[in-house]
Amino acid sequence: MKALILSGGKGTRLRPITHTSAKQLVPVANKPILFYGIEGIRDAGITDIGIVVGDTHQEIRDAVGDGSRLGVKVTYIRQEQPLGLAHAVLVSEDYLKDSSFVMFLGDNLIRDGITPLVDEFRQGKPTSQILLAHVKNPQDFGVAELDGERVVRLEEKPAHPKSDLALVGVYMFDKTIFEAVKAIQPSKRGELEITDAIQYLIDKKFDVRSHVITGWWKDTGKLEDMLEANRIVLENIAPLNEGKLLGDCRLEGRVVIGKGTVVENSTLRGPLILGERCVIRDAYVGPFTAISNDCVIQGSELEHSIVLERSRIENLEVRVEGSLVGRDVVLRHTDARPRSYRFMIGDSSSVDLV
Ligand code: G1P
Repeated sequence: MKALILSGGKGTRLRPITHTSAKQLVPVANKPILFYGIEGIRDAGITDIGIVVGDTHQEIRDAVGDGSRLGVKVTYIRQEQPLGLAHAVLVSEDYLKDSSFVMFLGDNLIRDGITPLVDEFRQGKPTSQILLAHVKNPQDFGVAELDGERVVRLEEKPAHPKSDLALVGVYMFDKTIFEAVKAIQPSKRGELEITDAIQYLIDKKFDVRSHVITGWWKDTGKLEDMLEANRIVLENIAPLNEGKLLGDCRLEGRVVIGKGTVVENSTLRGPLILGERCVIRDAYVGPFTAISNDCVIQGSELEHSIVLERSRIENLEVRVEGSLVGRDVVLRHTDARPRSYRFMIGDSSSVDLV
């Protein structure tokens, strides 16, 4: 079996972060989301992985390389235009050939991995196996309508969903899927939808099975989802201190401190992770926070947030929470007069002030 990971897309719901960075590379607990997918596929015994890339291809290549570091063999497949998930399958035909494969959306995170699901597909050999999960907002997903255990209809982001069962971004197919992706027409949003391709298989009476997963799953397209993913992953981290504690520090709960990081006169309340070469001084860093490499948190309080590389948070008077701070960002309090807010903020940013 092979795997296909889709890592194109514009990530519009995570702007401004995705103006400069692929959404699949935004870190959860200091590791790019994409890496969790690669590891899950590898753990299911699949090492031949095609990654479908678009405009952000260079960045994805720089991060993943040939995959050897993660124990897999990666082939990059260029999708020139984001014309839909089924189009991504179409452009991957030369790579996939006759192999059956698991297709994994690069911004999806499945906490418990996919090993039993892939095993089930390998044993049952259906034409396709889809994963479903109960959600509160089915209108934001592909939605399945079941008759008993049989899938009868799939609808992409319906205004009036017929069930609360969303299509999870992990699909398994045999080569019959190529017949389907060649037969379907673009949807109203001009994309070849994988949902329509699977509906084609159902209509032609091919063996399409579904599996409702109960473990935690997230499509990390939005800020709240990223923060929740960060929280879920951090819940399982093991404490590790490779940094240095100076002065009066208090560590509570599970805290990971990276190499070369200095924590001085601060309280760290886990679960949290600090990257390498950070400086945390006269600060409080609270639960469910992930701070990437080379950041400075000084004279400030921060929790339930993600901070990317080389950013500085200094002397803020109010605690920062529920935030995603990009790379090379400076957030600081100054005593300069007149007292005023001074911003240099990228396009599509969102700032809440007290
Ligand atoms: C895509 C699929 C949708 C599926 C979702 C899962 O939506 O089109 O059917 O439920 O992934 O993450 P997108 O996130 O591309 O809008």
